[in-house]
Amino acid sequence: MPDTNTPPPAKLWDGRFDEATDPLVEAFTESVSFDARLAPYDIQGSIAHATMLGRVGILSAEEVTAITDGLNAIAGEISAGDFVWKPALEDVHMNIEQALTDRIGDAGKKLHTARSRNDQVATDIRLFLRDAVDQTIAALNSFADTLLDVAEREADTIVPGHTHLQVAQPVSFGHHMLAWRAMLLRDAERLADCRKRINRMPLGSAALAGTPHPIDRSITCDLLGFDSIIDNSLDAVSDRDFAIEFCSAASLIMVHLSRMSEELILWASAPFGFVELPDRFCTGSSIMPQKKNPDIAELVRGKSGRVIGSLQSLLVIMKGQPLAYNRDNQEDKEPLFDTVDTVLRSLHVFAPMVGAMAVKRERCLAAAAQGFSTATDLADYLVIKGVPFRDAHSIVGRCVRLATDRGCDLAELPLTEMQAISDAISDDVFDVLTVEGSVAARDHIGGTAPAQVRAAVQRARSG
Ligand code: ARG
Repeated sequence: MPDTNTPPPAKLWDGRFDEATDPLVEAFTESVSFDARLAPYDIQGSIAHATMLGRVGILSAEEVTAITDGLNAIAGEISAGDFVWKPALEDVHMNIEQALTDRIGDAGKKLHTARSRNDQVATDIRLFLRDAVDQTIAALNSFADTLLDVAEREADTIVPGHTHLQVAQPVSFGHHMLAWRAMLLRDAERLADCRKRINRMPLGSAALAGTPHPIDRSITCDLLGFDSIIDNSLDAVSDRDFAIEFCSAASLIMVHLSRMSEELILWASAPFGFVELPDRFCTGSSIMPQKKNPDIAELVRGKSGRVIGSLQSLLVIMKGQPLAYNRDNQEDKEPLFDTVDTVLRSLHVFAPMVGAMAVKRERCLAAAAQGFSTATDLADYLVIKGVPFRDAHSIVGRCVRLATDRGCDLAELPLTEMQAISDAISDDVFDVLTVEGSVAARDHIGGTAPAQVRAAVQRARSG
């Protein structure tokens, strides 16, 4: 039996309801516990909306001033941590609207004219994400600059380049850093492109069909710094493609950071010993006193999982939703917020760690000389001497087998024994068997020669 004695709790939408919301339902449906972080954007959107309502004559100048002052005061309370959020008021939008009305009276009740939470929340998320994208692009660019410095410093440092994680050919450490940088620049480019679709304005679409009030959407568009107005109201309130695109770009960022992490973890291990990560970016073991663990890199590699998971969440939340707004969309916020936080925190901690790592040049060079890393150079040497490449490949294969049997490197094979395999080999062969010669020989745009690495750094700095 409904309890008819107790008045239902105040809800902004309770006019047609006879009984109070079940506490289980209230707890299940509320979003203020996580969407409160949209408050600054919600207030920015509301001030723009009220200003527009004033300019077209729907609100009086006094009402606009009261609303604007009230919202600014609420913004102050929120940032000071003094605002009391009420789960009974469901979400950030209704908490702020109710607080405004409590503060300024009837003018507060007019704020929601010509607006719905559906276009309001879509606007808030876009404003939030626009900021997040700008911060992420800045973090990517700053990490890319760090890598430019490391690349310049380590242009002459030689490390083994791998394919299949087997030693392939020697490369400049700086070249490797510029490869990482290229990944980050593409990430920034992708975000800049995604930003174009984020920065479009849904406000004015109201619940789904628009509003009969004489609004002027170009005013709110200008005030909020949107590039354009979304011109279909059904699409405007239901589209979350832009958030999915962001999570997709964010997933790629994390995939890139994860690949870098994997390399750093290997490089910092004793068998590799190519780099020493700064102590302040590592942790120890509670049982093994000798351990210094690359936890940041491992955590970033692990956190890529949650970001990729969030992308899946958003895709599945959207799949199967009919037009227009559905409450399913409330589920977009936690994965989206988590993605923004995870990517930014990862970039902020990763970049200074990489900038401060010490490269152990001797170890790198020694490793580059192992594993017959100059075998391709020997084949190219034979080609220059007139041997067809396929024959040269086979000759070098036999030299490698000989060196393997003897437990030595190609450069340590006696000349006469190499000549027994091919008479095209003469004593100038030893010049091409050094790793320095191998690296320096790849002297074209995109090649690993230290001179090319320095030139690429210069181009990046002047470009
Ligand atoms: N909290 C909701 C969300 O995040 C706001 C919009 C709710 N609109 C509605 N008609 N129930 O999507």
